[in-house]
Order: sequence, then C-alpha cells, then structure tokens
Amino acid sequence: MGRPMAVEGLEGVVATTSRICYLDGQRGVLAYCGYDIHDLARLTSFEEVCYLLWQGRLPTRPELGDLQTELSRYRELPDPVVRALKLLPHGSAMDAVRTGISLLAHYDPDTGDGSPSAMRRKAVRLTAQVGSLVATLGRLASGGAPIQPDPVLGHAASFLYLLTGERPTGLAVRAIDTALVLHADHELNASTFAARVAAATLTDIHSAIVAGVTALKGPLHGGANAEVMKMLVAIGEDADDARVDAAIRGMLARKQKIPGFGHRVYRTEDPRATHLRQMSRDLGLEKGQAQWFRISERIEKIMKEDTGINANVDFYSASTYHTLGIATDLFTPIFVASRVAGWIAHALEQYSNNRLIRPRADYIGPEYPQAVVRLGER
Ligand SMILES: CC(C)(COP(=O)(O)OP(=O)(O)OC[C@H]1O[C@@H](n2cnc3c(N)ncnc32)[C@H](O)[C@@H]1OP(=O)(O)O)[C@@H](O)C(=O)NCCC(=O)NCCS
Repeated sequence: MGRPMAVEGLEGVVATTSRICYLDGQRGVLAYCGYDIHDLARLTSFEEVCYLLWQGRLPTRPELGDLQTELSRYRELPDPVVRALKLLPHGSAMDAVRTGISLLAHYDPDTGDGSPSAMRRKAVRLTAQVGSLVATLGRLASGGAPIQPDPVLGHAASFLYLLTGERPTGLAVRAIDTALVLHADHELNASTFAARVAAATLTDIHSAIVAGVTALKGPLHGGANAEVMKMLVAIGEDADDARVDAAIRGMLARKQKIPGFGHRVYRTEDPRATHLRQMSRDLGLEKGQAQWFRISERIEKIMKEDTGINANVDFYSASTYHTLGIATDLFTPIFVASRVAGWIAHALEQYSNNRLIRPRADYIGPEYPQAVVRLGER
C-alpha cells in the first residue's frame, strides 16, 4: 500500500452512508430523513423530530403520545446525580453537562444491556434526562433549588419550567421547541462524528454521547453560540452602527474569527439561521429588547459586505436565548439538550451496521529507522 495522503480536517471526505440527515451545502438544504428543516421547524415539535430521527418516519398521534408519556416518565434525575451536581465547583456548565451525563450512566437501569429494547429505553431516557440536567444546572447556577418535573409538560415547556421555576409563556415554549428542532441533527458534524467513532468501538451509548459533548464544547463548534453573546455584550447594547462596524472590522483586521459566521459545508445561508433570525427579531420586539437583534443584524450586514461569509446556526441563537433571559453559559448546553437526539440516532445507526472507524495518518515525523542510543549515551 502506498503512502496515505492526508485530507486536512477531512474536508469533503465521505466517511459513511447514513439514512438520517441530508445536507446540500451548495443549495442550503438541510433535511432530516427527507423532511426539509423549514417544514419541520414550522410544523413539528422536538418530540416528533426525536421519533423521526430514531425511527426514520414521523409518528402517528398515538405513537407521539406514547413517546411523550415515556419522556415524562424518565424526566426526573436520579437523586444521587442531583446531589453530585450540587458538589461541583462553579465553572463551565458544559463541563458539568459532560460530568452529569457520565453520572447518569451509573444510575441507568439498562447500563450494560445492548439489546434493542434496552437501547430504545436508553435513547428515550437519555433525551429526557439531558433536558432536565441542563435545566437543573442552570437553576443551580442561579442559586435556585432543583424542581420536580411536571409530567403534563412537553419537552420544551418542561425545560423552561425546570430552569426558571415558572410556567413558561407560549412564545418562550415555541422559541425553545423550534431551537431544539433546528439543532437536533446535522449529518457528520464534528461532535456527531466523535460520537460515531466512539460507538464504532462498540462502547456503550452514554460513552458515545459523552464523546459528542466533548467535541461540541469547542468554540469552533457548539461553543460558538456563547462566544457570539460575549461579543455582543463586549460591543455594548447601546452601540450605534458606527461602533458595531468598528468593532467587527477591528476583529477582522486582527484576523480574528467572528463567532457565529462561516461553515464547513454551507456556501449559502445556513437554513437554520433563517428561523433563528426571525425568532430573535420577534422575541426582541415582544420583550422590548430589540437592541440585541439590531446589533446582530448590523454585524451580519458588515460580514456580508466585507467578507461574503454567512451567519450560521449559532449567530442568532445567541440573541434569541439571551432575550429569553437564559444565561450565556447555558447556550451550548441547550445545544446538547437537542443534539443528544441526533447523536443517539447516529450511534444506533452505527451499532446496527458497524465497522470500526480507523483512518490512517500521513506520517511526516523523523525518517525511519532511527537508531536508539542507550540512555546513558544520549
Ligand atoms: C465554522 C468554521 C470552523 C469552519 O471552518 P473551515 O471550514 O475550516 O474554514 P476556515 O476556517 O478555513 O475558513 C475559510 C476562510 O474563511 C475565513 N473565515 C471563516 N469563518 C470566519 C469567521 N467566522 N470570521 C472571519 N473569517 C472567517 C477564514 O479566515 C478563511 O479565510 P482565508 O482563506 O483567507 O484564510 C469557521 O468558519 C469558524 O471558525 N467560524 C467561527 C466559529 C463558529 O461560528 N463555529 C460554529 C460553526 S456552526
């Protein structure tokens, strides 16, 4: 076999076949199991999307009802996990999410059982629990006491209730539900690839999901939504257009990446950004906080004019979550609460037709063979 040639960042490499997510970066198309993301965002809930990603088709009303019942049954976190979360030092919520999912594995009644029925229960349980975990971490960080889930609430409403302790408004539920739908899957993005690589070793599903979390945390991936908000705050909520332009052009001149812009696959607008932009605008008006949308829109204009680079999913999710009163540190964990459904779908697909993922490297180190000089003679 000849010397393997590296494709840096695996750009353009097709690493597997998959029935889950269709992405066309030239036309700006994203579809889950053939359903266009624009239709899913308008017409379905996160629970319907979970069913779609795991079963390959949309549920009937009774099937959706069964899934909702199961999700609400599993939503309560095991008490030792809540106690352990309280012991964690204050720090990054993503670190706590990573630790929390690892802890959940210890208390999962199906740990160690790889049968199809156990895998299905773990898929539902993990999705239910991760939503509660993220909300509970947000609640603890704000000094509140953890709240018991209310079984009548859907996934998005339950998330907001466990986070705030208050019954959420319809607009807030719709915003979070749509954000969960939009973030649920995205083909072989870095975190999903990490989860599939882990699953391909036939490790357990909690471990595969933790692998996904670790990759999502980085600022080039899911961590970008928090970076966007930090940038908006640094520019200042009272900034006029001139101040926004100067800030962005200064960052570009210093060769800094503007968080929330650019994408490995899309050469058009990220179709998810279309919905988040609208949501950010509507929420800003509704809550009397239009400044974040105004600044964001101005940044987008400057980026288009100066670089031609489009906003991605993370850009308008930042102002959307902030306007909902959510702490910046919780933005990437909310991404986890959604993407866990996609990671699970991909892990299950990997298990169902597995081949170990083991690529090669183009070796560029010292020439072979090097003579080993004895320790005392070096
Ligand atoms: C997403 C991202 C990692 C994709 O990276 P990639 O496919 O490896 O593309 P590159 O980083 O090589 O970027 C290609 C060019 O566009 C520029 N570019 C890409 N994203 C940019 C951004 N956000 N701000 C400024 N310039 C950017 C790069 O500087 C590079 O320019 P060059 O060819 O003159 O050197 C990258 O766009 C990025 O870092 N974005 C900011 C972080 C972010 O929002 N991540 C969430 C993605 S959903």
